Amino acid sequence: MPKHKILITGGCGFIGSRVIAGLIDTTHDLYIVDNLSTGRKENVPLDRVTLKVCDIRSVEAYDYIQEIQPEYVIHLAAQIDVQTSMEEQHYDADVNIMGTLNIVQACMQLPALQQFVFASTAAVYGNNTDLPLTEKSNTIPTSPYGQSKLVGEQYLALMHHLYQLPYAVLRFANVYGKKSYAANDVITSFWTKLSSGESPVIFGDGKQTRDFIYVEDIASALIEAMYVTPSGIYNISTNEQTTINDVLRTMNVLLANQVLPTHVSERAGDIRDSRLANDKFVHHTNWIPKQTIQTGLYKTLQNQTNKVKVENK
Ligand SMILES: NC(=O)c1ccc[n+]([C@@H]2O[C@H](COP(=O)([O-])OP(=O)(O)OC[C@H]3O[C@@H](n4cnc5c(N)ncnc54)[C@H](O)[C@@H]3O)[C@@H](O)[C@H]2O)c1
Repeated sequence: MPKHKILITGGCGFIGSRVIAGLIDTTHDLYIVDNLSTGRKENVPLDRVTLKVCDIRSVEAYDYIQEIQPEYVIHLAAQIDVQTSMEEQHYDADVNIMGTLNIVQACMQLPALQQFVFASTAAVYGNNTDLPLTEKSNTIPTSPYGQSKLVGEQYLALMHHLYQLPYAVLRFANVYGKKSYAANDVITSFWTKLSSGESPVIFGDGKQTRDFIYVEDIASALIEAMYVTPSGIYNISTNEQTTINDVLRTMNVLLANQVLPTHVSERAGDIRDSRLANDKFVHHTNWIPKQTIQTGLYKTLQNQTNKVKVENK
């Protein structure tokens, strides 16, 4: 297998550290640019990767890319929190738009660049109810986060059009798995409550659905995306809908618990249902999602505690 230089921005984070784990046994040289704002050094093997601690918006990051001359770039570093994007819109745009543009511009100077992989999100579809959402569905973001990711996507399409930059935009459904920091996604917040014997909070009736995809399936998709053609947009999902009530039910079964939720009012702006068609990426690669919600939750909880009672595979 030929040896390449691969740069992963945000490589110390939740998804990035799983991408590194997926590449560790290859012969490739691995580089990370990360400012450690949410990521941790401990998440990656520092004897195997070269870590540059800096901000994606900086001249330092731009110059570092010129110095190492990667052939593949997986751009994950971002402001990822929807609520933060609502409250700090300039910050969100600065990191997700200007930071992405800085990395893209640095890559435009690389003669041997083979692929630029960009982590995007189902949030670009906003409240579009035309399920399952395909890559051709209308994008109508309902948050600054969804908007800033969409602008990042559009810059890549523009650079491809103007300068033939090879790229793959991956729009992720709801990603879950063990996180090394307090996060407010539904599965992490259920675990936080269940692990302290408290009642998890469900907004609304809990019958709203999401397309949950396990983090290792996302990492393997990012690695496959290094080689995907044609350049363009690909949904990454399970193409399955699971209710929030079913997520809690499955977690309770796995933990041999019967903790009842506390239902509170629906949150303004929350979408009711979500499902992303994944057949475009499946058709163009060898990738398929390996984990169902049951097996993925089993792995997530097993990584958190030795109290997982049922092997629900
Ligand atoms: N987790 C999800 O559910 C989900 C869903 C859709 C898309 N995504 C996208 O996937 C990517 C990775 O997300 P994640 O869940 O691993 O998040 P994360 O917060 O765990 O990882 C982001 C990494 O980027 C680093 N970072 C943040 N801002 C930076 C900056 N300005 N300069 C340099 N490094 C910076 C952080 O330290 C962290 O290591 C993001 O682009 C996110 O938008 C995530």
